[in-house]
Formats: sequence, structure tokens, C-alpha cells
Amino acid sequence: MFALRLYSLLPIIVALPSLLEGARILAIFPYPGPSQYINVVPYLKTLASRGHEVTSVNAFPQKKPVKNFRDIAVLEVFQSYDDIISEVSEAKNSWDENNFINEFFISVTKAVLNNAEVQRELLPHGKAQYDLIIVEALRTDALYGFAAHFNAPIIGISTFGTDWNIDELVGNTAPLSYIPLVTAGLSDRMTYWERVHNFVETSVAWVNWKLKYHPVQVKLYEQYFPHVAKKVPLVELSRNFSLVLLNQHFSLSFPRPYVPNMIEVGGLHISHKPAPLPKDLEDFIEGAGSAGVIYFSLGSNIKSKDLPEERRQMLLKTFASLPQRVLWKFENDQLPGKPSNVFLSKWFPQPDILAHPNVKLFITHGGLLSTIESIHHGKPVLGLPFFYDQFLNVERAKRAGFGLGLDHKEMTSEELKNTIQRLLTESSFATTAQQMSARYRDQPMSPQETAVWWTEYVLRHKGAHHMRVAAQDLSFVEYHNLDVLGTFVGIIVIVLVAATLIVCKLFGLGKSQKVCNRKKLKDQ
Ligand SMILES: *[C@@H]1O[C@H](CO)[C@@H](O)[C@H](O)[C@H]1NC(C)=O
Repeated sequence: MFALRLYSLLPIIVALPSLLEGARILAIFPYPGPSQYINVVPYLKTLASRGHEVTSVNAFPQKKPVKNFRDIAVLEVFQSYDDIISEVSEAKNSWDENNFINEFFISVTKAVLNNAEVQRELLPHGKAQYDLIIVEALRTDALYGFAAHFNAPIIGISTFGTDWNIDELVGNTAPLSYIPLVTAGLSDRMTYWERVHNFVETSVAWVNWKLKYHPVQVKLYEQYFPHVAKKVPLVELSRNFSLVLLNQHFSLSFPRPYVPNMIEVGGLHISHKPAPLPKDLEDFIEGAGSAGVIYFSLGSNIKSKDLPEERRQMLLKTFASLPQRVLWKFENDQLPGKPSNVFLSKWFPQPDILAHPNVKLFITHGGLLSTIESIHHGKPVLGLPFFYDQFLNVERAKRAGFGLGLDHKEMTSEELKNTIQRLLTESSFATTAQQMSARYRDQPMSPQETAVWWTEYVLRHKGAHHMRVAAQDLSFVEYHNLDVLGTFVGIIVIVLVAATLIVCKLFGLGKSQKVCNRKKLKDQ
């Protein structure tokens, strides 16, 4: 009797743990720039708070323990990081630039795969078990091997929106005629020459990756995942993503098509309730009166102290001459000659500052997170781009009408001052920023809720393979219908040749007809 009852309970007992424990999630975000991780960590922590067990491979481990959240710190990734920013900004041509970027990703991939904890905990066959892999989609393809290794679905996240390389993960459509390459600094409305430029730059990046660096990633995959590499080639893994989440939104950039498993979650990191500011900061901002406050930060990758001394003096002189107060994110405590209207700090609670009504302008390097925060809070921007997608973001801000841009290497004090004054006095900049903010905030769920919902959708539907478009199973020739076009071109050629022959035979034997003459000459 008792045994029978226990037996009937068994299915429930077996089912319970999986319902209560949630999924085991392996997140891989080894990129050493802090903003990439800042973008995703609130989402990963939310997954943990919902009962999933999250293991996060990253370079910025938590300072305090978080429930259900474990770090595998890969601090080795910092080794090649300092060189890359200067190398890329000094690259002579786009082939070189692609070389630097792809080589850097190879060193990041190797750093992860060689990390002692990764080798001990993750790589041994059959040791750990995961139900879902979440990776940063950043040309570290060998790491997609974890999906095959754990036989788990894989989700990609891109912190800068999509590009030709990320599109391939889900077979997304991206016509080069109006989708600019992220690094090209172009908008979606391109002139003929801009389209030529976009086509050439994208092709260079594509060829560089396909011929030179993708094969290196394949070798790494085969070396570190030998047991699965025999069964599944890396290209198949790279075309088998369940979902790609993009830190982008059409109201921030421009409208464009997406396949169903590519979802925009722009502003993934933004919390919707600003926290109160520290007392000294609040006093400084409110003490500025009606002139208002300018917030100046070059983000977490570029340090103001890395600016040449002459540039720093120029900034200081310009800020001193302004009626506004300036908050300057500066990494040294001391700045000789600091004027009284300037407040320096190594760190600012950026979103909370931008939320303050007396902060009127954001001078930024144009990183995507900063640009999104600026739009979220409806503040105009002055962009000083340095690197990668920053040129594109600043270009978009200019075209949208909520910002202006300057070249930080060339600008004079006068230009800087005039541009600041224009942004503060011409009301269209602030109005446009507020309008963009209203459009951006008008969404059915917050970006983070959206990201969590789709992540759990993939878990609920065992990889949600039904969202995958058929493009993923077509070859290059089939996808572009080159075989069909080839057939039609062939038919047209045959018809033309036949028609010419017939016409020549019937009427064209006269000497004046060149086509027939040539034909006759050949026949002789
Ligand atoms: C592709 O993903 C699905 C769902 O996650 C999985 O069942 C399948 O084995 C994967 N295929 C390859 C070739 O990795």
C-alpha cells in the first residue's frame, strides 16, 4: 500500500527540483572593457534572482556575493587590452584595423580557454552541466563550442547592436544599401559614394574574417573541444543560435528588419528609478542656478588623464570661461589650475546625474551606453568620438538633431565653446532629445524585462528552434539565388545566340552586317 503511494508520487518528486531550481546558465562575457559588462550584468543578476543558477565568465567579478550567481574571473584578458585601443585608432587602413580587432579577439578567446578555472570546471568532458549558454557575440567563435560541449541552446548578446558578423548567427537580412557598417561612421541614408564606401569596408571586414581569422577560431575550437569538434563543425554552431539580443532600439538608431529571433533590448542596463545623488554632488548641481550644469565624461575605456597635457589645458581653459558648472569625470585627484566651476571625480553615478533636471548637456565620447542614457533622460550631447562605434553614434545624434560632434584632436577652445553654447541656447537640441526620450520609453516592457522574457522563452521551448529562419541551412549560392539567376542568364544567352543565327540565316547574309560577317569568317 505504502509502496504504491510512493510510486504514484514519484513523477511529482522527479519534476519538482527542475521547477524549483530553474536553469543552470553559463554566461561568457570576457571582454575587458567595463561598459560591455555593465550593460549585461543587471540582466544576469535578474536571471539569478528568478531562481536560475548563473555562472558568469567575466573580467569584473562581483565584490559582494550575489545569490545564485558565481563568477569565473578571467583577468588574463587585460593583458592585450591596453595595446588594442591605441593600435586600432592608429591603424593605417581598414585591413590593418580588422587585423588588430580580430587578433585581439583571438587573444581573448585563448585567455578564456587557458584560464585555470575554466580548464578545471568547464572543459573536462562530462564534469559540469548547463542548460543554457549566453555569450557575448564578438568574434570569439571558438567559445560557441560550449553549446555543443554542454548540448545546450545558445543565446548571443551584442552590446552595440548587430553587424554582418552577428547577423550570420541567426541569418538576419541586412542590405548594405541602407545598413551602414558600425565602424564606418555613416547613417542609413547614404549617398552613392557612401554606399560604395560601405560596400568596400564591409567586404574588407568580411574577407579578413573569413579567410584569415575564422580559420584560427576553428583551430582553437578543434583544439579545446576535441570530442565535439569531430561531430559538429564550428560553422554549424555559429549558425545555430536560438536568440540574439541587441543593445539597440529603432528609436535610438534607425528602423531596420530583424528575423524573429533577433530582439532589440537597447538600454538593457538602465534601471528606471534614479537613485538620490550624494550630498556634495547635489549641492554643486543645484548651486549652478539657471545657467545649469554640463556633465563631461569620456567613459570607462578612455581616461581623461591619457589626453595630452595641451588638450587638457585647453578643456580647462574653456570650462573656466563658461557660466555653467561642469562635472568632469577625471581619474586623477589633482588637476592643477582647476577652476571653481569644475567638479572633479573619478566616478560619477552617471544615470542619476543625467536624470537631474539642472544637468543640461552631456559631453561624451559617444559610447553606446552613454548615448542611450542620454536619450533615456532626454539630454542633448556633444560627441567627441575616439573609437569603434562611437563615430556612428555621434553621427546619429547629429542627424537626429539632439547633438553635435567635434574632433577631440583638432578642436580649438573657441570651437568647443561655441558648440557648447549652441547646444545650450538653440532650443531644438533639447526639444529633440526630449522627443527621442518619449519615443524610446514608450515600450510594452522594459528592455531588461524583454531580455529576461525571451531568455526564458528559449528555455521553455528547448532552444526555440522554430524561430530559426531557413536561411541558416542554405549555402551562399542558394541564399543569394545565384544558381537561379545563373539559369536565367544562361537561357537568355542561348536564346540570343539562337535568334542571331536565325536572323543571319534568313536575312543577314549581306556584307554590311558585322555580326553575321564575323560568324561567316569563323565558319570559313
Ligand atoms: C542546434 O540547436 C538545437 C536547439 O538548441 C539543438 O537541438 C541542435 O542539436 C543544435 N544543432 C547543432 C548542429 O548544434
